[in-house]
Amino acid sequence: MAVGESQSGIMDSYLDATPRSRVAHERSVAVMPGGAKGAYHYAPYPVFFESGDGCRLVDVEGRTLVDCANHHTAQIVGHRHPAVMAAIEAQLKRGVVLGGPTGVETELAEELCDRVESLERVRFCNSGTEATLHAIRLARGVTGRPKIAKFEGGYHGSHDAVEISVAPPLGEAGDPLAPTAVPGVVGMAPAAAEDVVILPYGNIDAVTGIVESHAAELACILLDPKAGMLAPVDGFAVAVSELAREHGILLVADEVVAFRLARGGWQQTVGVTPDLTTFGKLVGGGFPIGAFGGRADLMDRLDTRAGPTGFFQSGTFSAHPVAMAAGLATLKQLTPEAFERLDRMGRQLESGLTAVFGRHEIPLTCVVAGSLFSLYFLPDPPRCYRDLVAGERGWNSPVFHSLLQQGYFLSHSLAMNALSLPMESGDVDGLIAAVDSSLERVLSDGQP
Ligand SMILES: Cc1ncc(COP(=O)(O)O)c(C=O)c1O
Repeated sequence: MAVGESQSGIMDSYLDATPRSRVAHERSVAVMPGGAKGAYHYAPYPVFFESGDGCRLVDVEGRTLVDCANHHTAQIVGHRHPAVMAAIEAQLKRGVVLGGPTGVETELAEELCDRVESLERVRFCNSGTEATLHAIRLARGVTGRPKIAKFEGGYHGSHDAVEISVAPPLGEAGDPLAPTAVPGVVGMAPAAAEDVVILPYGNIDAVTGIVESHAAELACILLDPKAGMLAPVDGFAVAVSELAREHGILLVADEVVAFRLARGGWQQTVGVTPDLTTFGKLVGGGFPIGAFGGRADLMDRLDTRAGPTGFFQSGTFSAHPVAMAAGLATLKQLTPEAFERLDRMGRQLESGLTAVFGRHEIPLTCVVAGSLFSLYFLPDPPRCYRDLVAGERGWNSPVFHSLLQQGYFLSHSLAMNALSLPMESGDVDGLIAAVDSSLERVLSDGQP
């Protein structure tokens, strides 16, 4: 087969199969720059969806796809779960937003505090972005220190304090063991990067050196374990947590994605007790949400009942009752048995993919954590951002489209995918077989 033949064939088939998505896309870009949001786009245009039910999506052409992306990992119990739908409908009957608390937010807060050992108090907002913004602000306010530390490659939302060194070009990123702080987007406050210290993920000696030299000015260390994206490094989170404690630096665990791993979150799986934790995604049951919480003595600075404390957090739609009801109903489904089921399917996927990768001649690997998974064209599971960017990415798009053609919808980068509870082991086997045949087809071209 000529180089590129099957890959261009895959694209031609996509164009033939998706005329309605193309029309919808053209209409959308006339009024929204490039489409509804950055993360939706992939070439040549994204599939537009009509509906979702359980672990399946139906696109506007009427094709059924197994949903392995689950709305950027936010959907865990599947689409239109009966208990979640019932909770949403019951809440809607009371009105949408009423200008005061309705009590459902207390129930969700209680549920979270019951699940996550480090959580004594929690506050709700509208996105993971807001959650990290408020957690960092609280950390700066409490410690009186100006800077924060985050890991290279860590994404914590879209605001100036964290959009630093998220995906820096290697030419600007500096020494892998002492990375340079690189602003992620244009238009940020010119000094934004000056307040952020960048740490190399996975190397505790290098992290210790950097933290020690900035200790007196660091308010917090923001740590996202990148579950399902980076291979876990044994003992690393505990070591970071001890280092932070030693220097009076607050540890903020970003569990916007990682809360998918266990009833008590990622922190339960590694035995770390952060000072503050941020949440989002699944906690809203499919509705916009963010939450941040932790030690009572820190969070109680936000208690302004007796008068201004200088600290403040609010928001027109924060603690939105419908999101609270959907989130609560979702969490109620997430029993220990549910996590066991998700973990079992994750292990099935990992062993199936590993066997598939062994049959192909180029470097391929996957990272699976609980129900989260990523596929990479790399010889070994990446342990940090620098490993990640070393991978070949030219095959991502053809493999993504080939999987789509076979009825499996993944993230278009092939990273940060997620299984959901309504999936059956047959869906997982189907996905493994689809990955195998996608690789067979795409790699036959020889070059990305
Ligand atoms: C670890 C992490 N933190 C924060 C965010 C930001 O959340 P949101 O997109 O809800 O603003 C994300 C989003 O993907 C994330 O993955």
